[in-house]
Amino acid sequence: MTTHPTIPPSMKAVCFNEPGGPDVLHVESIAVPTPGRGEVLIRVMAAGVNRPDVIQRQGLYPPPPGANPRLGLEIAGEVVACGAPLEDSTMPAIGSRVCALTNGGGYAEYCLAPVGQCLPWPDGFDAVQAAALPETYFTVWSNLFMPSLPSAGTRVLIHGGTSGIGTTAIQLVRAFGGEAFATAGSAEKCALCETLGARAINYREEDFLARIRAMTQDEGVNTILDMIGGAYFNRNLKSLAPEGRLVIIALQGGAKAEQADLARIMTRRLIVTGSNLRPRDAATKARIARGLQTHVWPLLAKGVIRPLIYATFPLEQAADAQSAMETGEHSGKIILRVASD
Ligand SMILES: NC(=O)c1ccc[n+]([C@@H]2O[C@H](COP(=O)([O-])OP(=O)(O)OC[C@H]3O[C@@H](n4cnc5c(N)ncnc54)[C@H](OP(=O)(O)O)[C@@H]3O)[C@@H](O)[C@H]2O)c1
Repeated sequence: MTTHPTIPPSMKAVCFNEPGGPDVLHVESIAVPTPGRGEVLIRVMAAGVNRPDVIQRQGLYPPPPGANPRLGLEIAGEVVACGAPLEDSTMPAIGSRVCALTNGGGYAEYCLAPVGQCLPWPDGFDAVQAAALPETYFTVWSNLFMPSLPSAGTRVLIHGGTSGIGTTAIQLVRAFGGEAFATAGSAEKCALCETLGARAINYREEDFLARIRAMTQDEGVNTILDMIGGAYFNRNLKSLAPEGRLVIIALQGGAKAEQADLARIMTRRLIVTGSNLRPRDAATKARIARGLQTHVWPLLAKGVIRPLIYATFPLEQAADAQSAMETGEHSGKIILRVASD
C-alpha cells in the first residue's frame, strides 16, 4: 500500500443508529479505513447529498450487501492512500485530486472508493462543484446514454427537471443534440428548466400527457426518465412515440401501477426498463465512468454543462442538509463542505 504520511487514525463521520428523521444523524469519531485491493482512500473535501441518502436514512433503501452502511454516495477530494492495483488498472498518484462514486460513507473526512469509480477533478472546478457530479452523472449516463448514444433530435421527457438528476439530464440531452421536455412543480422551477434548455410543464397545474401531446403534435417522446413510477405509469406509456422507452429510476409515486395498459406496450412496441445505480457491480460502474470520462468530462471542462449548486452545509450540519432536501424547495444539488480545497 502507498500512503500519504499525514493520515490520522480516526476521523469525523456522520452516523445513524436507527432509521428516522434527520435528527438521527450525528457525527462520531471512527477509524479511518484502509484501502483494499483496487481501492483508494480519499481525504474528502466535499460530499454530495442525494435523495437516495434521505431514503436510506428513513430506513426505506437498505445498502446492498457488502456496501458501507454509512451515508454518502459521492465525494471530491485528494487521494491519500492506494491499495494494491487490480491487474487491469493503474492506481492514481498520491496527492491527485479526484471525484468519485463511493459505495457509501462519503459523509466523512476520509472515504474509500474503487479506483474504477474515480474520475478526474475537472479543471476550474472547486470541491463543491466536483462533488456534485458522480451520483447524478453516473445515473443519467447509464440510463439514457448506454449502451448507445441517442440519435440527434431524440425527444426526452425528464420528470423532476430541477432535481439533481433532472438538471443533469436536461443538460446532457441538450448537449448531445436531443430535445428535452421536463416536469417541475412551480413556475420558478419551470423557468429554470427552460433556462437549461427544456420545454417545461408545471405538473401541479397541467396534465403532462396533454402537454406532451400538444408540444409534439401528438407524436410523443422517444424516451422518458421517470422518478415517479406507479402514479405516472399509464400517462408515461401514452406519452411515448412508437418504440419509445420508459426508464424508471425511482418510485416516488408508488411501486404499483393500477390498471396498467399493457396493450399499449405491445401495440406500440414500447420498452419499459429501469435501474438502481447503487447495487450495480464494480465492473459496470467502471464502464459507466469510462463513458463519462470520454464523452462528458470534456464538456464539463469546456463549460458546456455544469452542476447547479443550490446550497452547501458543513459536514456537522448533515441533518440540516437532508432537511433542506426534504422540504423540496431546492433546485439542483445540496453539498456538504468537509475540508478546504
Ligand atoms: N435509480 C437510481 O440509480 C437513482 C440514483 C439517484 C437518484 N435516483 C432518484 O432520482 C430522483 C431524484 O434524485 P435527486 O437526488 O436528484 O433528488 P431531488 O433533488 O430531491 O429531486 C426530487 C424530484 O422529484 C420531483 N417530483 C416529486 N414529485 C413529482 C411529480 N409528481 N412529478 C414530477 N416530479 C416530481 C421533484 O420536483 P419538484 O421539486 O418540482 O416538485 C424533484 O425535482 C429521486 O427520486 C431519487 O431517489 C435514482
